[in-house]
Amino acid sequence: MDKYVIHGGKRLEGAVDISGAKNAAVAILPAVILADSPCRIENLPDISDVKTLNYILGQMGAEIEYLDRHTVLIDPRPINTDGVCADEARSMRASYYLIGALLGRYQRASVPLPGGCNFGVRPIDQHLKGFEALGCTHSLDGGGIISVSAEDGLHGANIYLDVRSVGATINIMLATVKARGLTIIENAAREPHVVDLANFLNMMGADILGAGTDTIKIHGVQKLRGADYSIIPDQIEAGTYMVAAAATGGDVTVRNVTPKHLESISAKLAEMGVAIEEGDDSVRVYNKGPLHRCTVKTMTHPGFPTDMQPQITTLLSVVPGTSMVIESIFDTRFKYVDELRRMGAEITVDGKMAIIEGVNKLKGAPVKALDLRAGAAMVIAGLIAEGTTQVENIQYIERGYETIVDKLAHLGADIYLKQEPDREIAKLG
Ligand code: EPU
Repeated sequence: MDKYVIHGGKRLEGAVDISGAKNAAVAILPAVILADSPCRIENLPDISDVKTLNYILGQMGAEIEYLDRHTVLIDPRPINTDGVCADEARSMRASYYLIGALLGRYQRASVPLPGGCNFGVRPIDQHLKGFEALGCTHSLDGGGIISVSAEDGLHGANIYLDVRSVGATINIMLATVKARGLTIIENAAREPHVVDLANFLNMMGADILGAGTDTIKIHGVQKLRGADYSIIPDQIEAGTYMVAAAATGGDVTVRNVTPKHLESISAKLAEMGVAIEEGDDSVRVYNKGPLHRCTVKTMTHPGFPTDMQPQITTLLSVVPGTSMVIESIFDTRFKYVDELRRMGAEITVDGKMAIIEGVNKLKGAPVKALDLRAGAAMVIAGLIAEGTTQVENIQYIERGYETIVDKLAHLGADIYLKQEPDREIAKLG
């Protein structure tokens, strides 16, 4: 029952250091399974999704040694199973990357169907379509375990993705990197974490061309060796602090970032009247005057990311005029709007569109983090609200934001973690 308690109304000022990218880390850790010697991964974010994946790899036999808080040495050689039974795998979306990585190593894999943030149906048909094209069959057992195997080994193929799926692009790359022949993924996702995984695999000896464009070519290789690799900065964590700075009328330098990855977010904030100054690896965000309403449509990269949608909607809830946010990636990613309404926001949702009438201020209230980014949005709402906001369900937020309370407090926010005994456990105990 831990919660964040926020007394709103403080301007954020100063500098914040951004951690390694969650969605790159959760692809790169499974990729280590493909190596035939140890890998050293740096700039790993200290978040619960990473801890869960390392736990699962450890259960499978990998030797894992943390050299410091953000650097891990993983020896995948002792892994002795093509199956994942840890229940933990059900708790996160990215556990499906274990399918691709195990297929690459053993040509078969059994993994619990993935969980993750709940914003509508999240099918994996494009992953399975890719695996089938590579020579695999699959079956689902009663326990929710999906088994995929290639009797005659995996071979290259031309795969056209019907939707530009990040997960399918990454999973197919993992499965095919050691397959026979050439694989071409068309209509591939272009997100920075897709490129980061390709760079890591290429450092291991893979032959991948075109990551970051919509056509990726993978020539299968026989062996991949261990590599030392530093994960890219987290685009969405950076964007979240940028929006928090703008929302509080603050002046924040977001450091350790790749400004190019932030362009769609910077451009939208600039359109609203926020001042953005890009450095080599930093972005300064401050307000020059009142902000203007705008329209935001989420798109695949390099468009405005869906993972920034709840945060920008929250900012727009206190910008004068009528703004519009269109969610074009996920079907039901506006559930958190009910929580914002409890704080006084005036937002109407019609299918994939939110119409926002900017109000003067939000009012503090007890709210819930309904998923990771919706949780980040509740924190931003608490920072700008009058009075006290308590954000519950913070385990979602801790899946993807490293030390968010400390980072915000360092910027001047009045926020703390309130730890309370879990009433359910207390009752049972
Ligand atoms: N889709 C299909 N079939 C598939 C796969 C996807 O129809 O086989 C659809 C989805 O339902 C969705 C769209 O395609 O409508 C895009 O889904 P995608 O596969 O790109 O999403 P994902 O791989 O499940 C990753 C991130 C999400 C992020 C999305 C979109 C990871 C672990 N997760 O999810 O991150 O929202 O891409 O960019 O990389 C987050 O970090 O908070 C988060 C949810």
